Amino acid sequence: MEFRVPFILFYLSLILLLFFPFSSAQMTGFLSLDCGGNGNFIDEIGLQWNPDDKLTYGEISNISVVNETRNQYKTLRHFPADSRKYCYTLDVVSRTRYLLRATFLYGNFDNNNFYPKFDISVGATHWSTIVISDANIIETRELIFLATSPTISVCLSNATTGQPFISTLELRQFNGSIYYTEFEQHFYLSVSARINFGAASDAPIRYPDDPFDRIWQSDSFKKANYLVDVAAGTQKISTNVSVDVNRFELPPAKVMQTAVVGTKGSLSYRVDLNGFPGFGWAVTYFAEIENLAQEESRKFRLVLPGRPDISMPVVNIEENAPGKYRLYEPGYTNLSLPFVLSFKFKKTNDSSKGPLLNAMEINKYLEKNSGSPDGDAISSLLSYYPSADWTKEGGDPCLPVPWSWVHCSSDPQPRIVSILLSNKNLTGTIPLGITKLTGLVELWLDGNMLTGPIPDFSGCMDLKIIHLEKNQLTGPLPTTLLNLPNLKELYVQNNMLSGIIPSDLRNKDLVLNYTGNFNLHKESGKKSDKYVIIIGSVVGAAVLLLATVISFFTINKGKKKYDQKDHFVSHPSPSMVSSKNDGHAEAAHAFSYSEIQNSTNNFEKKIGSGGFGVVYYGKLDDGKEIAVKVLTSNSYQGKREFSNEVSLLSRIHHRNLVQFLGYCREEGNCMLIYEFMHNGTLKEHLYGPLTHGQSIDWIKRLQVAEDAAKGIEYLHTGCVPAVIHRDVKSSNILLDRQMRAKVSDFGLSKLAVEGVSHVSSIVRGTVGYLDPEYYISQQLTDKSDVYSFGVILLELISGQEAISNDSFGTNCRNIVQWAKLHIESGDIQGIIDPVLQGNFDLQSMWKIAEKAMMCIQPHGHMRPSISEVLKEIQDALSIERESGRNSDDLSRNSIHSSTHMGSMDYGVAENFLSIDESIAQPTAR
Ligand SMILES: *[C@@H]1O[C@H](CO)[C@@H](O)[C@H](O)[C@H]1NC(C)=O
Ligand SMILES: *[C@@H]1O[C@H](CO)[C@@H](O)[C@H](O)[C@H]1NC(C)=O
Ligand SMILES: *[C@@H]1O[C@H](CO)[C@@H](O)[C@H](O)[C@H]1NC(C)=O
Ligand SMILES: *[C@@H]1O[C@H](CO)[C@@H](O)[C@H](O)[C@H]1NC(C)=O
Ligand SMILES: *[C@@H]1O[C@H](CO)[C@@H](O)[C@H](O)[C@H]1NC(C)=O
Ligand SMILES: *[C@@H]1O[C@H](CO)[C@@H](O)[C@H](O)[C@H]1NC(C)=O
Ligand SMILES: *[C@@H]1O[C@H](CO)[C@@H](O)[C@H](O)[C@H]1NC(C)=O
Repeated sequence: MEFRVPFILFYLSLILLLFFPFSSAQMTGFLSLDCGGNGNFIDEIGLQWNPDDKLTYGEISNISVVNETRNQYKTLRHFPADSRKYCYTLDVVSRTRYLLRATFLYGNFDNNNFYPKFDISVGATHWSTIVISDANIIETRELIFLATSPTISVCLSNATTGQPFISTLELRQFNGSIYYTEFEQHFYLSVSARINFGAASDAPIRYPDDPFDRIWQSDSFKKANYLVDVAAGTQKISTNVSVDVNRFELPPAKVMQTAVVGTKGSLSYRVDLNGFPGFGWAVTYFAEIENLAQEESRKFRLVLPGRPDISMPVVNIEENAPGKYRLYEPGYTNLSLPFVLSFKFKKTNDSSKGPLLNAMEINKYLEKNSGSPDGDAISSLLSYYPSADWTKEGGDPCLPVPWSWVHCSSDPQPRIVSILLSNKNLTGTIPLGITKLTGLVELWLDGNMLTGPIPDFSGCMDLKIIHLEKNQLTGPLPTTLLNLPNLKELYVQNNMLSGIIPSDLRNKDLVLNYTGNFNLHKESGKKSDKYVIIIGSVVGAAVLLLATVISFFTINKGKKKYDQKDHFVSHPSPSMVSSKNDGHAEAAHAFSYSEIQNSTNNFEKKIGSGGFGVVYYGKLDDGKEIAVKVLTSNSYQGKREFSNEVSLLSRIHHRNLVQFLGYCREEGNCMLIYEFMHNGTLKEHLYGPLTHGQSIDWIKRLQVAEDAAKGIEYLHTGCVPAVIHRDVKSSNILLDRQMRAKVSDFGLSKLAVEGVSHVSSIVRGTVGYLDPEYYISQQLTDKSDVYSFGVILLELISGQEAISNDSFGTNCRNIVQWAKLHIESGDIQGIIDPVLQGNFDLQSMWKIAEKAMMCIQPHGHMRPSISEVLKEIQDALSIERESGRNSDDLSRNSIHSSTHMGSMDYGVAENFLSIDESIAQPTAR
């Protein structure tokens, strides 16, 4: 057997945070750690296992469990039952989804009278409490997460009874989007049930049948309260015909080839859901695997006790997955579920067959804890001492329990209040990261070998006690110590400090020991004192201190007020898929209603309208011209949705995107304020009222295409996370005074999830521009924008509208079909806009035509990226420039702009499509 071993795929950084390379024999992104193991091996299903042997904490036990032959379950690692946490730090690829699995087989390793009970956490988030109730049964916990940083840590801690231990830790990388949820920035999915119905045996189905090694538990597996109360007449069925699961992350065919059917009209089960009650993600998987006669039908409804709303939709597999052996996966992305779930599928009256069920998955939303706000500051401190033991504890500094050398406040987002690093052989200067710990009260750095000056601790206003004695610190006692209003004790004895002790410091109500610094003097010219305790206060010092305190609070207060009144501060919210900048609030300008009313002369001049509202012209007091998009009241149901839009918009800046200036949310109105674009839309310049029989020339069209492509490229590649426009069309490309193009309406974009396709139940877009693949699959990718952009290129070539009843001959309303027919038969002349009158280079025209054909390919993966399209446009432009053509359009169009306001299509035209499914409807993906 030969395994391809890729280069170092995974690293495991342990409590010892040394990174150890592991190679893997199977899919990219798999890591299987055999805790307590003593060598690499490949198991019977082909997975490569590695020992966690570089971990310096914990002890190994060998166990033996009847009928358990797997190598990874012959050992485990256990940890002391103390107040500390013990962490595994695993390397992951940021912005990638993973399945994380931890398993625990007790095997009576410690011969204790009590079974262990302890907690595990992921970073700062409490994941689960592991309760062992049978020494020979494996406890498993699984979590689906989107990696937001390069590592993830799994920590065992605070045992209630017995000792924390672990048998295996596994990471499985996903490469698609089936587990995308709009809440994933703020919630993990904790796996509660993943069931293969009608399974042939008790054995689960996993790798290699499931390429992501999910474990599909057999419905005949026996455990307490697992799939009990089965309805009479329930039968298992199976097929040997392969089931078309059509997307990679859906359940493997082997799971779909078996099912249960309710021959008496219903299927019912009761099952305990680990982790519930709570909100969950629940999806059922159906495929018709029985041969139904022509006149037979299978229609049924889900029945959940107490949830009549859920029971409304009818499941009709044939209708949703036409043809047999195809998968249909209705589900609920956010559903409240109890711990004990009873569910039933009941046939409808007009159905001849009873219900069928192949598989289901239920995951619980587990809210992430962002952890101590001091995480970043403290990790900069750790990086100074990469080889010291105390820097390797892993996980969050404070949660679920603090590192051994810090103390934390008891806030929900705890701050570090004490640093206890006495006698740790620290060298170098005092790490500046410490001065950023704004909640610090006690600092113990005594008995080290620290050199250099005492830094400015003014950022740590709560500091009470500072121990710096017995180091090799130099320089003076800084006057910035006077800024610390709470400082009570300062120990600096036995260093190499010099200069004069600031008299205000001596006068402060402060315990100060500075003996053993031979060049440090109380007053100039005098020899160093021994030890002094100076109690009492001098008016001068008090005044200074008071002034400092007051100015500090005034600044802060002023700032806060400013934020509240004038700025919209985005709050991290579940539906805001943001990444690195989490928590870093971004501000958008808030206009007052009266300001907008004045600037638009009471909404006098309407310059555009669409599905999302009306756009008005306005002029601010400073002369800046604006476009005010007044959203129709039902566009935004909630404040949060509007907030998300605004905070998204305020982050996106590019010269080829219409500038977002701010918002107004007053008097029941939601308005978005943009820069005003003087020359209207591209659409109007091609065939709208602005052409006046004359249209823009080819080189100008290419420039517009270049500008627009740059804007879209920025949305796709320059924004983190990427933004998909969803409604790219010629009426959303606006032209400024200089006829430079900018893309508008990207505010209605849904954020994209990088590298994966987006799952959505709402198809948005405009007829004629809408990507057919997106329309069918409802999977949104950046390639949907590329499709729409291809349509724009065809418009630029032909000067024809995307949809027209009479331009394209009989039986054809659509520019795509029409142009394709011509271009594919080599007849490009047949589609070139006659207005161009031969003023173009045929080679550049062909380049654009061919690229346009690529853009409108039926499948996204066949289409180029917008960056490739941009490059082609630039090539075409240089061909035109070499042949000496220059746009002469500028003068004409600037005259134009003085007479015409231009209309702004910030909204979506009448052809707007919105296939909106309510959240309570099962959604097909
Ligand atoms: C566990 O078993 C291995 C070999 O099977 C042995 O080398 C090791 O010493 C054992 N460890 C303990 C703690 O008994
Ligand atoms: C172990 O496996 C054997 C053979 O399959 C079976 O007879 C026995 O009951 C099993 N023992 C346990 C404890 O499961
Ligand atoms: C363990 O920690 C968790 C989370 O901090 C806490 O909820 C739980 O009460 C603790 N258990 C014990 C026994 O201290
Ligand atoms: C996901 O991984 C599988 C297995 O390696 C591969 O066949 C598939 O093409 C991948 N999908 C994507 C979108 O990368
Ligand atoms: C599937 O194939 C196996 C062996 O090839 C056969 O025993 C079994 O009856 C078949 N099942 C069905 C449902 O056709
Ligand atoms: C500090 O260094 C000394 C000498 O190298 C060593 O004996 C001692 O264990 C070290 N202390 C710590 C906390 O690392
Ligand atoms: C001040 O520091 C010196 C040197 O460490 C020590 O001998 C003395 O006892 C200290 N004084 C007090 C009051 O702690």
